[in-house]
Amino acid sequence: MAKNSHQTVVVLDFGGQYKELIARRVREFKVHSQILAGDTPIETLKEINPVGIILTGGPHSVYEDGAPRTKRELFELGIPILGICYGMHLMTYMLGGEVKPCDVSEYGTVNVTVDDVTSEIFADVERDTVTLMSHTDRVAKMPEGFKAFAHTADCPIAAMGNADKKLYAVQFHPEVERTKRGNTIMSNFLYRVCGVEGDYTIDDFIAYEIEEIKKQVGDKQVVLGLSGGVDSSVCAAILEKAIPNQLTCIFVDTGLMRKNEGDEVEAAFADKQLNFVRVDAEKRFLTKLAGVTEPERKRKIIGEEFVRVFEEESSKFAGSFLAQGTIYPDVVESGLTTGAVIKSHHNVGGLPKDTKFIGLVEPLRALFKDEVRELGRKLGLDKKLVERQPFPGPGLAVRCIGEITKERLDILRDADYIYREEIEKAEVKCGQYFAVLTDMRTVGVMGDGRTYNYVLALRAVSTTDFMTAEYVHIPYEVLDKVSSRIVNEVKGVSRIVYDITGKPPATIEWE
Ligand code: XMP
Repeated sequence: MAKNSHQTVVVLDFGGQYKELIARRVREFKVHSQILAGDTPIETLKEINPVGIILTGGPHSVYEDGAPRTKRELFELGIPILGICYGMHLMTYMLGGEVKPCDVSEYGTVNVTVDDVTSEIFADVERDTVTLMSHTDRVAKMPEGFKAFAHTADCPIAAMGNADKKLYAVQFHPEVERTKRGNTIMSNFLYRVCGVEGDYTIDDFIAYEIEEIKKQVGDKQVVLGLSGGVDSSVCAAILEKAIPNQLTCIFVDTGLMRKNEGDEVEAAFADKQLNFVRVDAEKRFLTKLAGVTEPERKRKIIGEEFVRVFEEESSKFAGSFLAQGTIYPDVVESGLTTGAVIKSHHNVGGLPKDTKFIGLVEPLRALFKDEVRELGRKLGLDKKLVERQPFPGPGLAVRCIGEITKERLDILRDADYIYREEIEKAEVKCGQYFAVLTDMRTVGVMGDGRTYNYVLALRAVSTTDFMTAEYVHIPYEVLDKVSSRIVNEVKGVSRIVYDITGKPPATIEWE
């Protein structure tokens, strides 16, 4: 529920895919936000007493059977409201206006002309601006007392409002980056219309989450699967603050981690008030992987073995809560918000049916990656851990082409370590960089002798979304240094190549 000491903006959810983004924008303007179902009782809203309410978009048509609605009373509470897309249609419908299908639907970026630049929500916005639209219905007749503020070529009422009642609505999505002045419009609604104080900080978020965790968990124990990645580490850190001594972190060391990584994860949590269990499962994983060269088969084996090891360890904690570092993009990609699966994440979708756990604790579920990193820094986690580059779940298995053996993994680990050290020393900007041990051996010469050793590949990409990537133009001096160090210091490598393909056509990882 809402914090008493801070102003809250409630985001009422009518099924739109951007509800968390709206809540995030509100947080960015230093206001506490809370997402609630569109049909939340008016009494509950009165208790929360928000300084503003935002109605999200949604996939429905407002006249359609089963379309989510609200009570007319919502608009009579005297609380400022901003309706977005479906939220605009709902406001119109509930207040006696008319919504009808567009002659021409608008999808994508659309030019909007602001007709009333004196309107509070369009303060500091140019007369001609660009917005993101995605709608097949539009407002045909505004409710009484409303005034149109903007139009597009195909949508005569692209924004409207009743300044006296502090009710505003926009057909476009101010919460997305593609709406050029979206931030200004959000800020105008919050600061000019709702009159927010803007004093909500990350410390308040931490205090709020800690209370929520305590309330949910009570005196029960909590078990968290810790991978050493950013999300699970930050999750562990906030849980430790909330419920010290009730938390067990299980770290499955698969033997497929980078050099020293297992020890670093352990060290990061050594001084914390939690029970840290490191399961040394290297032998189990390498035995299962022996002789396997096909990449998808490797992934499957690792995934299954991981679940098995975790279940064995966590079975000692029946009657506990299971905590997960699920973050908002995981929820979106798994299709829980829209029904469209982009990529299935093993840690999304609730507890399995036959579980011994009594519930799920997911304190980061509403956050985006950069917010998780900020939270981690605030909780005092090591910079190196918080800013860690992504590392695939199956670990070095996807970077060790061909058969996986301890010996080959050690070659890869040592080479990768040198490469990363030199890139960091030279401060080359990369989104992700790593070494790949190929299964190809070539002839070389060292001293007076012939060698027949592996080809090692270096990869470095710049990317923000990891869906597309470009290879990085690493300075030749840095490549020289890396190459000479690896061939001199790592036994088993006699030739080094640099991967100069982007994604597409290649992928970031080799397997
Ligand atoms: P690709 O190779 O598909 O990688 O261009 C895109 C991003 O995803 C990471 N990656 C994985 N992460 N399990 C993961 O958790 C996997 O199986 C996996 N494969 C690739 C990769 O490191 C890059 O950041």
